Amino acid sequence: MPHLVAASLLAADFANLQRDIEMVNASQADWFHVDVMDGDFVPNFSIGTPVIEAIRKHARKPLDVHLMINKPERYIHHFASLGADILTVHIEATNHLHRVVSLIRELGIKAGVSLNPHTPVSSLESILSEVDLVLIMSVNPGFGGQKFIPASLEKIARLNQMRKNSGSGFLIEVDGGVGIKNAPQLVDAGVDILVAGNSVFASPDPAQSITDLKNCLNRAQ
Ligand code: DX5
Ligand code: ZN
Repeated sequence: MPHLVAASLLAADFANLQRDIEMVNASQADWFHVDVMDGDFVPNFSIGTPVIEAIRKHARKPLDVHLMINKPERYIHHFASLGADILTVHIEATNHLHRVVSLIRELGIKAGVSLNPHTPVSSLESILSEVDLVLIMSVNPGFGGQKFIPASLEKIARLNQMRKNSGSGFLIEVDGGVGIKNAPQLVDAGVDILVAGNSVFASPDPAQSITDLKNCLNRAQ
């Protein structure tokens, strides 16, 4: 499978959101990454449901919705109705991971599970055959523009080994501090999808930064 780039709208200019969405539409990015924060699971707030509704109207690529909220089971139907293509919940945010993942899939949406930097990949063992995607946080969730935590590479390599051993088909996504400097190593470790926020939107030419990242992935594979 080719390696994908998910542009994280958390780093977009919210006062010019339509402009930034059109930039992503016209770019080589594969997905829109949408970060939802509840001020409880993470110490920040971000994009809420009315904004996702507005994004959906203009976005012409899949919406990869990353739920950084406690007890996500309360809102799965809601996010499904907003047009999410992928819904990712945190393993640390629910006591009922299997139930949530099953519900997401019953609604015809791809189900992802995310791990904070301190959570070992071994905690996924019993759920791996039920998920479409695993999102490894390579920063502590809650804010864009943080420094990549190097130990994430080892974690991804271990998860990739678990994938090979189990024969499961889930995708591996990485989120936090990702850009052309660490992309080749991430691909080597087994990543399929790279989330890019500041490395795209804070650059002088965001569309070109996406092209550069995609070229770098194509060379690495
Ligand atoms: C952080 C979010 C990320 C964020 C990444 O909690 O989950 O998606 O936008 O931003 P960068 O790429 O700037 O680290
Ligand atoms: Zn995210």
